[in-house]
Amino acid sequence: MKNSCLPKCGFKRVMAWFQILLGLLVIFVSLLSLFSFYKAGFFLRNEDICHHFYGMRDFNSGFDLKALSDRVDEVLNKLDSLQEKLESKVQQMEKNKDALAISNITKLEYKKYLEDEVIRPLYSAHIALRQIRLPKSEGIGNSTFKEVPLINTFIIEEIRKYITPKENRVRKVNIYGSERVHNTIGHACVLYKTELEEYMDYDIGSYCKDDWNMAQKLMISGCDPLPRRRCLTRASKVYQKPYPINESLWRLPDHRNVRWSNYRCRNFECLSSKNPQRGYSKCTGCFEMEKEKLKWVTNTTLTTDFLISDILAIKPGEIRIGLDFGVGTGTFAARMRENNVTIITTALNLGAPFNEMIALRGLVPLYVTLNQRLPFFDNTMDLIHTTGFLDGWIDLVLMDFIMFDWDRVLRPGGLLWIDRFFCNRKDLDDYMYMFLQFRYKKHKWAIAPKSDSEVYLSAVLEKPPRAI
Ligand SMILES: *[C@@H]1O[C@H](CO)[C@@H](O)[C@H](O)[C@H]1NC(C)=O
Ligand SMILES: *[C@@H]1O[C@H](CO)[C@@H](O)[C@H](O)[C@H]1NC(C)=O
Ligand SMILES: *[C@@H]1O[C@H](CO)[C@@H](O)[C@H](O)[C@H]1NC(C)=O
Ligand SMILES: *[C@@H]1O[C@H](CO)[C@@H](O)[C@H](O)[C@H]1NC(C)=O
Ligand SMILES: *[C@@H]1O[C@H](CO)[C@@H](O)[C@H](O)[C@H]1NC(C)=O
Repeated sequence: MKNSCLPKCGFKRVMAWFQILLGLLVIFVSLLSLFSFYKAGFFLRNEDICHHFYGMRDFNSGFDLKALSDRVDEVLNKLDSLQEKLESKVQQMEKNKDALAISNITKLEYKKYLEDEVIRPLYSAHIALRQIRLPKSEGIGNSTFKEVPLINTFIIEEIRKYITPKENRVRKVNIYGSERVHNTIGHACVLYKTELEEYMDYDIGSYCKDDWNMAQKLMISGCDPLPRRRCLTRASKVYQKPYPINESLWRLPDHRNVRWSNYRCRNFECLSSKNPQRGYSKCTGCFEMEKEKLKWVTNTTLTTDFLISDILAIKPGEIRIGLDFGVGTGTFAARMRENNVTIITTALNLGAPFNEMIALRGLVPLYVTLNQRLPFFDNTMDLIHTTGFLDGWIDLVLMDFIMFDWDRVLRPGGLLWIDRFFCNRKDLDDYMYMFLQFRYKKHKWAIAPKSDSEVYLSAVLEKPPRAI
């Protein structure tokens, strides 16, 4: 049948083009890199190699840059038209699903092959080519050239590329008023060089490894911010659309929307506190909605448990936005949402999918560690609520830095709600001083025994105006 030849013949022609172009591409890129390495003195065992390695300012004489850049443009144009052809081919295949006389399976395979093995590498090659920065023949760098911190700690090219400052394309300042953009990484990344290099070892444009837990370990260890990556993150194979918001707030999400491979459990029911094999130890009842529904709306026997309605009554109508800093599944934010207050909930995936759970409930999870300054501006938040997180393990100096940061983001008249902070009875004075040092107005203050040796402390404090 004539019909059955069409896609295959077209495909062959396209592949032939593709191979020719790829060949050209390889030659250009190898020529370029060879030349760069040569210019950088890579073959001349020079002590300064590293300084030249990414500087390469003195790259000019005796080379026809104009011709090279013209050739590169030519290849780019050809790549453009080839990509267009391939994309339209794939679209056509989508449309003509039934018209073609090949079986559905083959068609699917063919399309997947085209997308994964041809189009995606083509895009990567294309982008790589566009990103080659040919040195401008005029601007020969001057000697006041500053080395980028940490860069020579790493040899993996992708990390070096990430932390190298990116000059603006047009030689002017950008919207931030700076001449270049610095991508940053946490300085403790240096201590975890092997792990970071493993994390950054991937093919650009391909699928990432399923290694969020390794990334999180790096972040918690102080390699925070982590570098971004140029690979495609994996998602659940059978992602379902989330429940509508009127249902999602108080319903366990669909387990198919989470990638479970790095957790001990394989569904949300398994995360119940009754299961000793659940794989996490903080906030153990947080995945049981019947228990969660009671929090902050029902009286308990503890005098340290305050009700949301009582706290909002302190400042009627004034509490609109806030932060919930702790370990949890977003129940505080859900309740506050019902009171028309927008709360952002911090979460780390410590053995259970806390971030996924909060997001699937229709709330905003903020994936941050303790290491970093909060990403909010000064005097902006109406409320900071904290529970289940800051307790007797925390170093006093660390806690001091955190408390000052909270003070910074709280607005004058904003509330700091410390909820069930607990510590050893003998340490209570130390911690109490931490909370009292800012001389906030005390709306509520309660202490209750947790066990023989431990106590709970809850407080609601108001930041005073600071007209200075
Ligand atoms: C291909 O799939 C369509 C529906 O997507 C179906 O109607 C058709 O019968 C299938 N053809 C073959 C050969 O399986
Ligand atoms: C390098 O550039 C700076 C400003 O861009 C200039 O002040 C300085 O004189 C230059 N140094 C040399 C050696 O050209
Ligand atoms: C949620 O809202 C949708 C449409 O707004 C409605 O069809 C559905 O019945 C609601 N669900 C519940 C549990 O109220
Ligand atoms: C909680 O207890 C207080 C007094 O102890 C009472 O006024 C209030 O109505 C109770 N609230 C609820 C939700 O039970
Ligand atoms: C929240 O806002 C809606 C719409 O403005 C209003 O109907 C509702 O009463 C408010 N809820 C509370 C608890 O204030």
